Amino acid sequence: MMSFIPEDKILEIKNRADIVDVVSEFVQVKGVGRNFIGLCPFHSEKTPSFTVSSEKQIFYCFGCGTGGNVFSFLMKIEGLSFPEAVRRLARRYGVQIPTVSLSSEQKRRLNEREELFSINRTAMEFFHHTLLHDKAGRKALDYLRDRQISDQAIQDFRLGFAPEGWDNLARYFFQKRLSPSLVEKTGLIVPRKNSSGYYDRFRNRIMFPILNLNMQVIGFGGRVMDDGTPKYLNSPESPIYNKSRSLYGLHLARQPCRNTGTVYIVEGYFDLLRLHQFGVENSVATLGTALTEEHVRLLKGYAQRVILVFDSDAAGLRAARRSIDIFMKQEMEAQVLVLPSGHDPDSFLLQHGLEQFKESSEKALGIIPFLIESAVKDHGLSVEGKIRITNDIIQPIMAIRDSVARSLYIKMLSERIGVNESAIMEKARQVTAQSRGKTFGSLRETDRQTIFQPGGQKQPGEIRFERHIVAMMLQFPEMIQEVEERNLLNYFTDATLKTIGQMIITHQQKSVSEIIDLMEDKRLQSISAGLAMGEEVWNREGCIKLMDQFEKSRKRQEDDLLEKIKQAESSKDDVLLLKLLKQKQVEVTSR
Ligand code: UTP
Ligand code: MN
Repeated sequence: MMSFIPEDKILEIKNRADIVDVVSEFVQVKGVGRNFIGLCPFHSEKTPSFTVSSEKQIFYCFGCGTGGNVFSFLMKIEGLSFPEAVRRLARRYGVQIPTVSLSSEQKRRLNEREELFSINRTAMEFFHHTLLHDKAGRKALDYLRDRQISDQAIQDFRLGFAPEGWDNLARYFFQKRLSPSLVEKTGLIVPRKNSSGYYDRFRNRIMFPILNLNMQVIGFGGRVMDDGTPKYLNSPESPIYNKSRSLYGLHLARQPCRNTGTVYIVEGYFDLLRLHQFGVENSVATLGTALTEEHVRLLKGYAQRVILVFDSDAAGLRAARRSIDIFMKQEMEAQVLVLPSGHDPDSFLLQHGLEQFKESSEKALGIIPFLIESAVKDHGLSVEGKIRITNDIIQPIMAIRDSVARSLYIKMLSERIGVNESAIMEKARQVTAQSRGKTFGSLRETDRQTIFQPGGQKQPGEIRFERHIVAMMLQFPEMIQEVEERNLLNYFTDATLKTIGQMIITHQQKSVSEIIDLMEDKRLQSISAGLAMGEEVWNREGCIKLMDQFEKSRKRQEDDLLEKIKQAESSKDDVLLLKLLKQKQVEVTSR
């Protein structure tokens, strides 16, 4: 399991992998000129600015400024570490990574995450084995069968049982000589408060292992088999488990979601098992938390449409309303399926069967109609009620970017509550006028600025020169040597651009994509990808001219400074002199 990945293997994987291929799994891209473009998976947009270069093997979004190579892409979109991304591609492209055995200390330091995954996997197998083959698991198996969970589902989801007793799992781990402090990080064992030693977090519970898209075990949920509390106990967040970006069942749902273009989101473990068992495999469950923007961004890679399935209770409705904002923001089509009172998806399917479930899904309301209906339910159709309904609904309607959809929803609202369309429009205008005052200057614009003007407060002119030179080095590597010989980087005022330039010089023989791997700072990766992506046409003379101009402008600034220093000296203006000398020093030390 645990291994160190040799440099040449990383290179081999890189050579075999194609970024366009990999990106296409998540984003629909089409060829435009020498590049491929599509809708950025890292921010929401309507017009594609996410650009992939097959030739350079990099990607860059001109909207949000995220960029990098095939590894950074996978890391970002799937939340992987670098070695995980490398391994993923190795598997995909059939590159064997040799296992180098390491001392336990080295192992621990090299990649704790991998160790935690492996501990969780061991626990998963322990629980699964106990459920199926240990007599302690008998009652748990009976419980599952009683709830009509099939043997196939038990296998598919690797369900298990954590036996009664305080330290069955802890002892099992210590027999295997695993470090308790490491195991503790998974949350599977907990240190005793008043004495030494550890006890098991999960005892006498049905166990649901939670897997990520790499089929690594990131955490567990455990259910009691009686009325005990809490009903479900969950792994705490850990270096490998983040609830707000994990979804139960996604590892099995991914392909079915792609095939159908739709994903069902439910709230419970059993709901998910039931859907899966009934063949609705394009389903995931949130893990005892509200749906987050990260969840939705993740799902966007696999489906165009979400059907939120909620219990009819008030909490479910509230949850539905809360998540609606997220879908609006992410511009993902979402529908809300509210089950008849007293039902969750599990009980509904058991009682009414698949046909009726499908029928109800087809009738699931879109976001706005759902909001309208629940507002009507909340406020009623009195005069007061209608005013409140309009107030509730107008914001979400105006948040819709598509103007046709917007006016259709206004019409719908007007008809549903019997209020004149033009009165609603008037209200809408007021609301947008107010909010425009607040949000003038979109987030995207500010993002763009911080990306394109690293260092912010400095003079744009200089930075523009420096950016241009680094872009030239990346796009027209013939000139790197010239930049080096002229010592141009020494004149750079922008530290970020200077660092990137230095890396390019140090690794002249490497491609952009390879240099990006050497950058630990994601910001550097993005900026480099952005600068490399340009489609400028370069020629030697143009480049020489650019460099001459840059040198000249920097020399002029330096001369100016020297001249000012001389003047300050002769006029004995010590305060000014000190200031100028400081400025000069900055320039000198920045060389
Ligand atoms: P529910 O209470 O609706 O349970 O919680 P359920 O999924 O229908 O389970 P059964 O059918 O009673 O066995 C929904 C989800 O909320 C989280 C779990 O993820 C659960 O599946 N939850 C619930 C917790 O994390 N802790 C709890 O104590 C209860
Ligand atoms: Mn249930």
